Amino acid sequence: MRPGTLSLQALPPLSLYVHLPWCLKKCPYCDFNSHEWRKDGELPTESYLDALRSDLEAALPLIWGRRVVSIFIGGGTPSLFPPAAIERLLADIRARVQLEPGCEITLEANPGTFEKDRFRGFREAGVTRLSIGVQSFDDAKLQALGRVHNAEQAQAAVEEAAQAFETFNIDLMYALPGQSMAELDRDLSRALAFKPPHLSVYHLTIEPNTMFALNPPVVPDDDLASDMLDLITARTGAQGMERYEVSAYARPGHRCAHNLNYWQFGDYLGIGAGAHSKLSFAHRILRQVRWREPAAFMSHAAQGNAVSNENEVKRSELPFEYMLNALRLRDGVELLRFSERTGLPLSSIKAGLEHGRERGLLEPDPALLRPTARGFDFLSDLQALFLPKG
Ligand SMILES: C[S@@+](CC[C@H](N)C(=O)[O-])C[C@H]1O[C@@H](n2cnc3c(N)ncnc32)[C@H](O)[C@@H]1O
Ligand code: SF4
Repeated sequence: MRPGTLSLQALPPLSLYVHLPWCLKKCPYCDFNSHEWRKDGELPTESYLDALRSDLEAALPLIWGRRVVSIFIGGGTPSLFPPAAIERLLADIRARVQLEPGCEITLEANPGTFEKDRFRGFREAGVTRLSIGVQSFDDAKLQALGRVHNAEQAQAAVEEAAQAFETFNIDLMYALPGQSMAELDRDLSRALAFKPPHLSVYHLTIEPNTMFALNPPVVPDDDLASDMLDLITARTGAQGMERYEVSAYARPGHRCAHNLNYWQFGDYLGIGAGAHSKLSFAHRILRQVRWREPAAFMSHAAQGNAVSNENEVKRSELPFEYMLNALRLRDGVELLRFSERTGLPLSSIKAGLEHGRERGLLEPDPALLRPTARGFDFLSDLQALFLPKG
C-alpha cells in the first residue's frame, strides 16, 4: 500500500506473458526482441527456464493473492522449445501462481516441418490455443519477407493445428512488397478455407532499425492498403468472423482473452527477456521492463533482479494510455471502466470526450466509450484527443 495519487477501487484481471526470445533467423521487417539462434549451438532451454522461474519468483510479491486469467507464451519463436520444455514451464508457473479455471494458454508457433510435429505435444503440455505465424500463403511473398517457411509448410502447419486444437489463430500480414488486391484475395481464400476460429491480419509496418528500414521494399500506397483492409473486413465478415479489434477477427466464442485483457487495460506480468509488465495497486500503476539481451536477462534473473527499468505511470499520461488500448475495440467499453482501471475521475477525460463526440468520432451514448465507424477509421486522431496537455 505505497502512497500514490490514484484511487483504484478494485484491481483488474491479471494476465501472464512469457517471452521466449530465439528465432531460426531474424526477419528483415521484425523489431521484436528476437535473436537468431545459430543451429550449431544448443538452445539454452534449461537455463532459460531456470531464469524464468527465478524471474517469476522474484515478482510474486507484486501479484500476491491474485489469480491469472490468461497466459501468452510469445516470442521470438516459442515453438523452438520442445513440448517437454513447455510442460516444465507451465508446471513451474502452476506451482507458483493460481490460474483461473479455464485459463487460456496461447503459444506462438512458426510453420516449419519439425515444429508442426510438436503441435500435439504442446496441447498435451497444457497449451489451449495455438497462434501460427503464417504471414502469407504465397511462396514469392514469403521469400520477399525473408521467412524460412514456404506455402506448403504453412498449409500443413494450419492443418495440424486445426486437428490438435479446438481454437487457434493464424497471423497474416497485408500490404506486402508488390502485393496486388488479387494476391491478397488469394491469401485470404487460403486462410479462410481452414475456417480459422481467429485471424490476426496486420498491416506490414516498416519499423526503424530493421533491414527493411535500411533497404525499403516497394509496398502498396495508403489508398490501396485501405482498399485491402476493406477486402479483409468484407471477406472475414462473409464467413461469420467479426472484426472485434483493429487487426483481430474472430468467430463467436473465439476472441483472444489475453489480448482482450490488454485492450481493456487489464494487468499483465511479463517475464522473460525484454518482457513488459503493467501492474496496478490501490494508488499507483507500475510499468516494468526486463533485461532485453537473453544472456543479460539470464544472469540478472539468477540474481533475482530481472527488471532493468521500472516507473510509475503519471496521472497525466493515463487517459491517453487507456485510450490507446480501449478504443482499438470495435464495441468499445463502458465508460465507467475508465475510472475503475485508471483510478482517475471521469472529469479527466471530459474535454476529449466532448471533442470526440462533436467531431463524430465517438458514439453519443453517454455510458459508452465507443468509436463511430469514422472514429475507427481515424483512430490515431481520436486517440490524440486524450494526449496530456502542454
Ligand atoms: C511477435 S510476432 C511473432 C510471431 C512468430 N515469431 C512469427 O513471426 O511467425 C507476432 C506477429 O506480429 C506480426 N508482425 C511482426 N512484425 C511486423 C511488422 N513489422 N508489421 C506488421 N506486423 C508484424 C506478424 O504477423 C507476427 O506473426
Ligand atoms: S520469426 Fe517472428 S519473431 Fe522471429 S524474427 Fe521473424 S517475425 Fe520476428
